[in-house]
Amino acid sequence: MDERATGMSDFNPTRRKLLQASAAASAAAAAPFASTEAAASTDAKSPSVPTVNVRLRVNGAERTVMLDPRTTLLDAVRERLHLTGPKKGCDQGQCGACTMIVDGHRIASCLTLAVMQEGHDVTTIEGLGTPKNMHPMQAAFVKHDGYQCGFCTSGQICAAVAMLDELKAGVPSHVTADITKGAEMSNEELRERMSGNICRCGAYSNIQEAIAEVAGVRRA
Ligand code: FES
Ligand code: FES
Repeated sequence: MDERATGMSDFNPTRRKLLQASAAASAAAAAPFASTEAAASTDAKSPSVPTVNVRLRVNGAERTVMLDPRTTLLDAVRERLHLTGPKKGCDQGQCGACTMIVDGHRIASCLTLAVMQEGHDVTTIEGLGTPKNMHPMQAAFVKHDGYQCGFCTSGQICAAVAMLDELKAGVPSHVTADITKGAEMSNEELRERMSGNICRCGAYSNIQEAIAEVAGVRRA
């Protein structure tokens, strides 16, 4: 075929030139991200970033920490109070690994700011029990092998503890048949109410058994 017809006669790059062009294009594409990261790290170090004193009551202990007001409760507890039981999985409220109990209710601690929890009672897995004096839910997870890697476990246990209180209080769920009569303690209710806590290892059946035992529900 006539090269002039295809335009290939003017396009005869060497491999070296192709690599150079490709490297230049990659650098250009990465430049905006690099400058954003640089700006972010500059911001973090900037003395102009405002900080506030936040008083947190975690596991019964009063702690005051100086924080950027944009700090989430999860980051404050993990990074500043060094309670690393709650885990950061998605950081978007979708996995439940960061679940804590605030004033008796389970919350995704990655979705709330630490400053919003001043004056509230925050409980993490560390506050539920200790290896020598476990909370019944912790003991049930151990007994039923309700974990594999353990990453989701602290969130599962905190969620399960608060979830059973919700159920006892008659709070309805999506599967509650008759909300005028309140919710029944059943495997279906337990599964539905724990559906916000993801286990990447798939230890669900053992988790279900552990929670059912504490709830006094017969296994499905
Ligand atoms: S880390 Fe908070 S819900 Fe996933
Ligand atoms: S035990 Fe590994 S994610 Fe649940």
